Amino acid sequence: MLNENSLEQFLSQKDEEAWSAALATLLRSIHEVDRNATQIWFAFYPLSLWQALEQAEDRERLAQQLLLQGDYDLKDQIDRSHAFLYGHRFWPQVKKAVEQDADAFDHTSSISLADQVLTVARGVANDLKKDESLLVGITAVAFMTIQQAGLETFKAAPGKISIDKNHARKSPEQILRERAKDDSQGLLGFLRTINKQFTITHDENDAKAKYKLREGQDLAWGAAEDRSRDWVAIDPRRSEGPIPVECRSASCGTCWVGVLGGAEKLSDVAAREGKKIKEFGYIDTAEPKPLIRLACQAQAQGAVSVVIPPWNGQFGKYLKSLKQTGAESSAVRPAPDRVQQNEAVN
Ligand code: FES
Repeated sequence: MLNENSLEQFLSQKDEEAWSAALATLLRSIHEVDRNATQIWFAFYPLSLWQALEQAEDRERLAQQLLLQGDYDLKDQIDRSHAFLYGHRFWPQVKKAVEQDADAFDHTSSISLADQVLTVARGVANDLKKDESLLVGITAVAFMTIQQAGLETFKAAPGKISIDKNHARKSPEQILRERAKDDSQGLLGFLRTINKQFTITHDENDAKAKYKLREGQDLAWGAAEDRSRDWVAIDPRRSEGPIPVECRSASCGTCWVGVLGGAEKLSDVAAREGKKIKEFGYIDTAEPKPLIRLACQAQAQGAVSVVIPPWNGQFGKYLKSLKQTGAESSAVRPAPDRVQQNEAVN
């Protein structure tokens, strides 16, 4: 990137591994209300995919090859990509603080990425007189956004909040209580073994963004019954209800969602979902109930709150092949100490 400032240079040295390590450290300092949300956000905007697109000779062609659909460019959604984090309500202050930090960044400092995030989050928390843990996730998001969008574009965004007033008034504890709440099955509901119904929330910022599904239905199947709005007008991928779907058989990757609350109330990841979600590139884990799921495969056994990413694609295999090519070419190249040894022998 031309004319990088020193914070951008600092960030440009951070790869996905560095961010994973920083995130693992930061998670301990993130309030429970944003612990899942922060991990989901980082899964929604993978650095390795952004890097692959940046380095591609023909970006549009690669996007087509990876079947990318929807809004995958973080630079086009600087103020709204994180609206599902509780910390989003502090975005104007966090954005300003990160910009000031960038302008004063000391390139000679050897601060770690996690400490850099914590320092800025602590400053904003002190100014706002809020618990620091509420600021850490959104501050990490701000730094990653600068890395992907560039500081100039980041600064140019207006810094607006996009959440409903009622939601903005809720405390973190109230949101956690709402996520934990399950549907009453009525009087003697505990005796009911069939026709149980559960509420799926697909946007916590919108009190109406909910649908019911019956026990045994997957998240996408239940969503198809929600015809309360013109979903296609909101997102062309939503042709069958609020959750984008195509194949309904874990083949296309269109229906991925993040699980903000109730992951434990979804069915375990079966072999096909586990294999395909890794191939799509969304998540690589053996956890039976991870935070990223394919809605056409995950069946709810209780109320669940999900968040829908604004894009989808299939890039896991491509990124894996890039890594292998990189590893192979560095294996062919002699290591620096080997070069020196060879030169000494000759
Ligand atoms: S709809 Fe294709 S993977 Fe779920």
